[in-house]
This record gives sequence, structure tokens and C-alpha cells, in this order.
Amino acid sequence: MKELIDRLERNGVLEKEEFIFLLSNFGEKEREYAGNKARKIATDFFGNDIYIRGLIEFTNYCKNDCYYCGIRKSNCNAQRYRLSKEQILDCCETGYQLGYRTFVLQGGEDGYYSDEMIVELVSAIKKKFSDCAITLSIGEKSRESYKKFFDAGADRYLLRHETANEEHYGKLHPKELSLSHRKQCLKNLREIGYQVGCGFMVGSPYQNAECLSEDLLFIHELQPHMVGIGPFVPHLDTKFAKEPQGSLELTLFLLSLIRIMKKNILLPATTALATIDPRGREKGILAGANVVMPNLSPQNVREKYSLYDGKVCTGEEAAECRNCLEERLNSIGYRTVIHRGDYV
Ligand code: 5AD
Ligand code: FES
Repeated sequence: MKELIDRLERNGVLEKEEFIFLLSNFGEKEREYAGNKARKIATDFFGNDIYIRGLIEFTNYCKNDCYYCGIRKSNCNAQRYRLSKEQILDCCETGYQLGYRTFVLQGGEDGYYSDEMIVELVSAIKKKFSDCAITLSIGEKSRESYKKFFDAGADRYLLRHETANEEHYGKLHPKELSLSHRKQCLKNLREIGYQVGCGFMVGSPYQNAECLSEDLLFIHELQPHMVGIGPFVPHLDTKFAKEPQGSLELTLFLLSLIRIMKKNILLPATTALATIDPRGREKGILAGANVVMPNLSPQNVREKYSLYDGKVCTGEEAAECRNCLEERLNSIGYRTVIHRGDYV
């Protein structure tokens, strides 16, 4: 299996069957081998610098009904909220003081925010914080909308593909949503000029090694600038409430494989990873991740942006998360840096 990992490093991709073999048969030894290689690649590229992104969860209204997601529209237990432009700008201000130079505006697919409102929001943030990058993560939109946001100054867009296997996609989503449309959105975003991030959950219900192989092949095909992956974590108010959470080891192994495939990719150690293990973020960094995305949302709404149960950092102030993170990273020999952290 080491030969496969070496070849992945040389060629950036493997055959589907080879990925399946690797993902079905890896053990502690392979994980360590891939982890060391991935970590070395990351430090060759980024040194001991970790990029930070301030995450602003500005609405938990959503018109979609993804079966795994706690803010799906049919969850009537979710307490819905929206942030105003002023509240969002306040979050950016706090974040700026704390050293953030990227703001990620994330939300459910909420029709309340018209394209014009998003354009205005992006322009206002860019005007006030001209040395900052803006990442949008607001779901599937038309090409025209994506273009308007880009022209207003949005730099990056995160849209996880969730799974690259058609059949699996159908088991996680209602029929109104399709993998082909999702992929089309990602291609449109790329063409418009965004730095684009796709990604998937590890250990989502019905996922198998074949699905994951297709995820890796899709990453190779799309050549995104960022990839967000984290373990699936069940949410009580969804039909997957009783499904087991994704595995820490598999998530770490996949982080390493992705780093080995694409040396300079921006790869976050996600909140979901921190949720399933008290040192999840640190382990993610040591497996090859180079980005963290702490929460900048106002404290009184954090609990409500509940995609899955047990999400960490909902009780902390932005400054507390910031300090906690710095200490955690320092403890493993890394540090955060104050810049946009673009893809190069
Ligand atoms: N567990 C883990 N991740 C989840 N997401 C949504 N629901 C869950 C869950 N139950 C992820 C999806 C989405 C991102 C914003 O959060 O991958 O794209
Ligand atoms: Fe909106 Fe899941 S239902 S992202």
C-alpha cells in the first residue's frame, strides 16, 4: 500500500480500484505513512503557518431539506435567525481586530437575501476591509447570481459536493436536489474566477469506499483550490439521528490523501472534526490540513446554527476561540498568520 501512496504523490491520482483498495484496507501503519508524507508536503509549502478564516453563520433559514442537516427546512425544532448587514459588519470588525483577513459568509439557502442584498453586503465588507478576502458559502445559485457576487468583490466560494456518487447523492437528498446541478454550479464558479472549494462528509449514511474513491476522483477532475471534509455527525431532529458518526481515523487518512494528491490545496481541519475528538483540529493539522475556520458569529445565535449535534465552540466568544486556537496550534508547533491566505 505504501507504493500506492508513493504513486499518488507522483501522479496526483490513482485508478478507482486502487483508491478503493487503499480505503478498504488501510491500517495504523498506512495512516502514519500517509500522515507523515502529507505533513511534510504541507510544511514544505506553508511552513508552520496556519491560515485562519472567520466564519459568520448569517442565516439558518434554508429552503432545502438535506436529510443529514439540522437546519433543513422541515426541522420545526430549529430556532431560525437572520443577521442584518450591520450585525454582519460588526462580526467582521471584531474579526479584523482579532487578526482575521478572510471572512466566510455561510448560511442556508435563504431566499430572504436577494442577490442585491448579497451584492450590497459583499461591497460593504470590501469597502471597509479592503485587505480582506470574502468567501461565500450560500449554496446553489444561478451563474448570473454567482457572477454578480464575484463582480461585487467576493473572492472565494465553498460548495461541498457532499458525495460524487449519483446513487449515494440520492440517498442523502430529496429528489429536488441533484448531483449534476451541484457539479454544474462548481464548474460555473470556477469559470467565473472564484477560488473554489468542494468537499464531502466522511462516514455519511450509505457511504462506502467506492463513494469515497469517486470523491477523490472528482477532486482530481475539478481541481479545486480548497477541499472541506469532516466526519458526518448525526443530528437528533433528522432521519439520520441514529446513524453512527464518521470515523476520526478515516477522516484523517482522507485529509492526508488529499494533501498528497494536491500539494498546495487549502485544506481546513473542520469544526466537525473538532467535535468528534477533543484534539480533532490538531490531529487534522498533523495529518496535512493547513486552515482553520473559527466561528465569528454572534454568541447568541451560535447554538442555533446547528447542522449536527454537539458542535463545539458554541459557548465561546470570538476572542476566546481565537486564543484557544492559537494555544492549540502552538502546542503542536504551528501558529496562525495575519493574511488572506490565498491559493497560490
Ligand atoms: N454532519 C457533518 N457535517 C454536516 N454538514 C451538514 N450536516 C452535517 C452533519 N450532520 C456539512 C455539509 C455542508 C456543510 C456546511 O456542513 O457537508 O456542506
Ligand atoms: Fe440546507 Fe442542509 S438543508 S444545507
